[in-house]
Amino acid sequence: MSSPHQTRPIDPESARRLAARGLRMDLVDTSDAEAFARWHVVDARGFHESRPRPESIAALVEGVAYRRTTGVWDDTAVDAASPVSTVSSWPVQLTVPGERSVTAWAISSVSVAPTHRRRGIARAMIEAELRTAHAEGVPVAALTATEATIYARFGFAPSAMAATWKIDTRRASWVGPEASGRLHFIDAAALQQIAPTLMERVRLQFAGEIEHWDHLLDRMLGIGIDDQERARALRIVRYDDASGEAQGFALYTIAVSPTDFSSNTLTVEYLVAANDDAYAGLWRFMFEIDLVGQVNAPLRSIDEPFSWQVSDTRAITKTAEGDHLWTRILDVPAALSARTYSAPGRFTFTVTDELGYADGTFSLDVDASGLGVVRQVDADSGEVDAAAPDQLRARVSLSVNDLSALYLGGVSAVTLARAGRIVEHVAGSVAAIDASFRSPVAPWLGIWF
Ligand SMILES: CC(C)(COP(=O)(O)OP(=O)(O)OC[C@H]1O[C@@H](n2cnc3c(N)ncnc32)[C@H](O)[C@@H]1OP(=O)(O)O)[C@@H](O)C(=O)NCCC(=O)NCCS
Repeated sequence: MSSPHQTRPIDPESARRLAARGLRMDLVDTSDAEAFARWHVVDARGFHESRPRPESIAALVEGVAYRRTTGVWDDTAVDAASPVSTVSSWPVQLTVPGERSVTAWAISSVSVAPTHRRRGIARAMIEAELRTAHAEGVPVAALTATEATIYARFGFAPSAMAATWKIDTRRASWVGPEASGRLHFIDAAALQQIAPTLMERVRLQFAGEIEHWDHLLDRMLGIGIDDQERARALRIVRYDDASGEAQGFALYTIAVSPTDFSSNTLTVEYLVAANDDAYAGLWRFMFEIDLVGQVNAPLRSIDEPFSWQVSDTRAITKTAEGDHLWTRILDVPAALSARTYSAPGRFTFTVTDELGYADGTFSLDVDASGLGVVRQVDADSGEVDAAAPDQLRARVSLSVNDLSALYLGGVSAVTLARAGRIVEHVAGSVAAIDASFRSPVAPWLGIWF
């Protein structure tokens, strides 16, 4: 173990709480191959995955060894060497509006063995993660969730949605721009040459995207995982612009229909386009492959330009749309000053947070360039009122969940107010917040973590 986030001692409060129930919370030394492999097997079981083969575990654990890795043990269990609960975390760059980044505490692998469920183990672990992140000075926590019912109680809210799109390619004639470049089939080794740079360029274009890790690409390519069939089925194409420079790539599979060989289904597993030209080139390619009747595109933005690039807009449907990235603000001034805003304004937020991190009143003053200055307001000082008369200052009350939902600009403040989640104290405040906070490009995260 080396990085400070890995070695910071286990959270004493949660450790004490669990110890009172006969459970031991501890860090896993990720350089201890046997201990880390045991943790990993329990993590896989927690998500109902097959037991990984020993040879796959070695590659998998190596890819995530940099994470802070925590477990909870029950020394009275038959298999007392294996944890009954897992969680991992690491600081990551999260894109916020304005093509800027904030450090976020990514939380992953939250699992509790079915033999130990609903005894408060997950609560102890997640609260420990938030306290650790806060102590490390990380202003936001982030995760992707298996269920939408778990994390609101800890102050999280959905802040980037994702959609699954279905394209009937027989009806979807391309009417978008002609791409300038061309496509090449490439192998996994060639993709590994270009993917990290392209993924990082695209990461900065979408609020909600996080910095990728080496193992992620291997996982997408099926390298080192047990499911070799999937890896063999994967096709990789690269888009090069007119000057021959790689500007995007796509991974896709085709499920062959047993009954109609002319109408198979293509799934876009992952597609990265660093500019609009590459976007047009790659999506047109997907829509025009012979012997394909339907394209499925899961985990995409809820606002894909391709729905405006075909002759028959009804050929494209969104079959699912829902929460994907959840964020939780831990430090209001640091989080809100990390992003830029679409319009100037003066705001006062009174935030309630059961866990205390974001509780308080904060002023945000956004200048004409979209930069914001945030200060915590002493409730008694009236300092902010002196700086700007009430009629110029938007004032609202809301929970940390709703501030987190607004954070990346994907949710309408007006909608949250209509839902009864934001209380407006000065008329027009909610509309003003919306004008400043909303991101012109829908936040999007194209991976699970
Ligand atoms: C979800 C999971 C981690 C919960 O673990 P747990 O130890 O049983 O949870 P706890 O007993 O600490 O419960 C904490 C709180 O969350 C609630 N909760 C727990 N699991 C929940 C679920 N699946 N849906 C809704 N609420 C849930 C509990 O009621 C409790 O609420 P309260 O403290 O406000 O009264 C566990 O069921 C699990 O491993 N599930 C499968 C893997 C998974 O989905 N992990 C989440 C990854 S994002």
